[in-house]
Amino acid sequence: MENTKWDKLWINANIASMADGKLAYGLRKNSAIASKNGLIVWIGRMDELDFNPAEKSEQVFDMGRKYLTPGFIDCHTHVVYAGSRAHEFEMRLKGVKYEDIAQRGGGIQSTVQATRQASEDELFEQSIVRVQSMMQEGLSVLEIKSGYGLNIESEIKMLRVAKRIGQKFNLHICSTFLGAHTVPKEYTGRSNDYVEYVCREMIPFIAEEKLAHAVDVFCEKIAFNLDQTEKIFQTAKNYNLLIKCHSEQLSNSNSAELAAEYGAISVDHLEYLSETGIKSLTKNGTTAVLLPGAFYFLRETKFPPIELLKSHNVPIAIATDCNPGTSPTTSLLLMMNMACTLFRLTPEEALAGVTKNAAKALGLSKTHGTLEVGKVDHIVSWDIDHPAELSYLFGQNPCHKIYR
Ligand code: NIG
Ligand code: FE
Repeated sequence: MENTKWDKLWINANIASMADGKLAYGLRKNSAIASKNGLIVWIGRMDELDFNPAEKSEQVFDMGRKYLTPGFIDCHTHVVYAGSRAHEFEMRLKGVKYEDIAQRGGGIQSTVQATRQASEDELFEQSIVRVQSMMQEGLSVLEIKSGYGLNIESEIKMLRVAKRIGQKFNLHICSTFLGAHTVPKEYTGRSNDYVEYVCREMIPFIAEEKLAHAVDVFCEKIAFNLDQTEKIFQTAKNYNLLIKCHSEQLSNSNSAELAAEYGAISVDHLEYLSETGIKSLTKNGTTAVLLPGAFYFLRETKFPPIELLKSHNVPIAIATDCNPGTSPTTSLLLMMNMACTLFRLTPEEALAGVTKNAAKALGLSKTHGTLEVGKVDHIVSWDIDHPAELSYLFGQNPCHKIYR
């Protein structure tokens, strides 16, 4: 144990570190954890603390046997948007399909219209309500996609709002450029021209201004085809941006393989993912992001190939997909519950999905996602008696405190 004083020390804690180890959840019962300059510098058993904690650390938090986990990471969200699509929910309940609403100019297009019309401040005000709700459940890293602007001004407006959210709440934001979310109205029948615009003007500008760290594409019949998707990946690669993909959500287009071959950090949704696709994920170290909220809200019946993902050792992350059309939720805890009830993940896998594997899905696993020496000291304390309760409870929030 080094001699310098620590900044923070949590004592009498049950630590679900999520680090690899013999015990489930990387559990360390009756332990303590210390940090300095924002990084974890020591973890050990309480009986290894052979000094007065108050003398060793600037701040000491007595957890009274509460559970600690890594800060939660929501690795797939469209949390910045304007308006609501409750009326489309009503239409779907009367039997209209999501794809049909999209084809009639509703769906993503209707949120594009509302988002384009909103001023940057209005967009910010509407979005922070959702972010505040996310933060009550232990959030420390938030991915935010653009994709409701679909022209350079409005895409930039969304990404600026994302940046402001990070500043306001001292949250780590990973911004993703999703200019290829759908073909905007003014490009109807000219999707190749729109892809050209994305690749020639939007991505170079976004990269130059460092407005996003990754590029995402919605590869689907109602959005972009495989060739168009590849063109965008190629451009993203040329500009050294990370790659993600909305893959195999409503049908199989083999975009997961394509994304993996381009070194994608994650492919997301995956209901229609094939075994060949899965092998490609393993080979290229791509994380699978499952979005049970969208599955539930669209009342999907086709399940992502969970068992195959597991048997091929693909890391599985879980996210809210917070968006007005397919997953109007801000609750990662609810997503953990749904990942277990709908997708049959274990509570431990669900917790890994919003910590360790969510960090992988954002390319942050060197610094985030587990409580280990050298990683950031984003720590959440919970009023629970066992970490499985985080997945077991739903509609209840046992979050005690978030330390960031
Ligand atoms: O992740 N799949 C594409 N994009 C979103 C839905 C966006 C919307 O309907 O507004 C999703 O499900
Ligand atoms: Fe999405």
